[in-house]
Amino acid sequence: MFLSVCLNPTLQKTLSFPSIIPGTVNRTASHRLDVSGKGINVTRVLTQLGKKAIHLTQLGGVMRPLFLSLCEQDKLSVEWVESESQIRFCYTMLTECDDGVTELVEEAEPVSAGTEERLLERFNSLLGDGSLGLKWLIVSGTKAAGFSDKVIPFMVQKAKEKGLKVILDIRGKDLTESLQYRPDVVKPNLFEFASTFAPELIKDNDLAINSVAKEQIKSAMLEMAKKHDCRVILTNGSRKILAADGDNYFEADINPVKAVNSIGCGDAFTAGLAAALEDGANFNEAIAEGIRCGALNAGFVKPGVIR
Ligand SMILES: Nc1ncnc2c1ncn2[C@@H]1O[C@H](COP(=O)(O)OP(=O)(O)OP(=O)(O)O)[C@@H](O)[C@H]1O
Ligand SMILES: [Mg+2]
Repeated sequence: MFLSVCLNPTLQKTLSFPSIIPGTVNRTASHRLDVSGKGINVTRVLTQLGKKAIHLTQLGGVMRPLFLSLCEQDKLSVEWVESESQIRFCYTMLTECDDGVTELVEEAEPVSAGTEERLLERFNSLLGDGSLGLKWLIVSGTKAAGFSDKVIPFMVQKAKEKGLKVILDIRGKDLTESLQYRPDVVKPNLFEFASTFAPELIKDNDLAINSVAKEQIKSAMLEMAKKHDCRVILTNGSRKILAADGDNYFEADINPVKAVNSIGCGDAFTAGLAAALEDGANFNEAIAEGIRCGALNAGFVKPGVIR
């Protein structure tokens, strides 16, 4: 059983247009609404892979019943605590040109005082419930404002103490403060890793990767893998995957497909990787399953699905 935690739930509007002309009125009849956020995407793909997964999050405001009914439609098992903050919307605009995926992200309202305590209480009780048979914790994405920097490292620490395997798709302080508890797999994308460990490589929201920069990323990955006894995987859209396992650095090729919607590819990758590891796959086999699920997700308009 997987516990997939994300502290930043989202209602995701996906809108398709032939093209968008900025500064004019753009209309479309092709739009959809889904529950999303990285943890929901991971949970949805795990569920579609036939795995048992519980999603833990915070929810508040008038959109909560809608959020929960969409979760039910997707057959997601959700545990939530009251946050007294409105669920945010994010918007994906798909156009038929190259680079046709534009994402508009609303930052979440701060969660109310007491949300962190409620969340950790629920987390502890899930962890303590032997009947669930939790074996894996996956933490994905950013956290809404109002949570402290301690909340994610605390969950990682508790999960490791309980003997769970831990997969992290997080960045910044959430990641650096969690490493001391020895997560099993660290899987942000290349940009998120660089923004955390080599911010000087990012200019104008863009990562310029030359051979010197690549060496820097590679040694940061190897250092992390060695020091914290974890595996590190960096995805990079339709480009090669970078991976480190102990002293071993390698790259994995992918076969790029023309993406209909690339949102959630990283989450589908995480779910595929996690499901394969649970099935006893080795690291390479698990990456291959991640690649398969990431590519499948790219083929659908709905984010965070493989069918
Ligand atoms: N166009 C594509 N063709 C084939 N596979 C893809 C494509 N885009 C993404 N993938 C697969 O999905 C994986 C994850 O993609 P990406 O690096 O874009 O994730 P991400 O940026 O973390 O996305 P998100 O956080 O929205 O889920 C890639 O490593 C690759 O295996
Ligand atoms: Mg990602």
